[in-house]
Amino acid sequence: MNHEVLEKNVGLLIVCILVAVSFGGLVQILPLLFEHASTEPVPNLKPLTALQLEGRDIYMREGCAVCHTQMVRPLQSETARYGHYSVAGEDIYEHPFLWGSKRTGPDLARVGGRYSDDWHAAHLLNPRTVVPVSNMPGYPWLFDDLLDGEITADKMRALRTLGVPYTDADIEGAQTAVAGVPEAKALIAYLQSLGQDMKGYGATP
Ligand code: HEC
Repeated sequence: MNHEVLEKNVGLLIVCILVAVSFGGLVQILPLLFEHASTEPVPNLKPLTALQLEGRDIYMREGCAVCHTQMVRPLQSETARYGHYSVAGEDIYEHPFLWGSKRTGPDLARVGGRYSDDWHAAHLLNPRTVVPVSNMPGYPWLFDDLLDGEITADKMRALRTLGVPYTDADIEGAQTAVAGVPEAKALIAYLQSLGQDMKGYGATP
């Protein structure tokens, strides 16, 4: 086609740009949908428990993802510090994913089991008590505010429609599992779950 025609006709140019961009997008996106490694859960992947799920919501509400990523890149400096790099199959049940893009603090994708629950509690209350140079804010209200669990089951039902394999028993027991628990405890349960699915996945490269 005579390129001049295209350049002088804005409407046609827009249409052709849209076609070119959509084609490029499809070429990138379509293969991923069919690639086994990005659609299959890693062998030990388990859905979050009701308590961990509430903890994850607190993580989102408090903006922890603003300072912390959950995405270990496949670089030696990262795998030496954090452990196995992140793989697509760990995030199959993540809605929305919390990879983040800013690391004011360390990556948290493998933090589960690294510290005791007591350490996390002290750290969340006032990070300076355990890491004197820390500039992370404290979250004292998480120790006073209690969960009521009124919509925990609904959240799990919603996640089930997205493919997270919650059983009826998980959903029925959700409210009793979280009602009356301090928010900090739920958040710590969530933090302790991070990276546990990757135990036994293979040696850290
Ligand atoms: C303003 C940025 C900022 C925010 C917001 C923030 N953090 Fe941090 N976080 C840091 C920094 C900096 C460190 C490193 C110093 C330290 O350990 O306190 C850190 C460390 C941590 C660690 C220890 C990680 C390790 O491997 O040693 C955990 C766990 C953690 N943060 C959890 C959280 C949680 C949960 C929230 C939300 C409730 C949160 N952070 C919010 C900046 C932040």
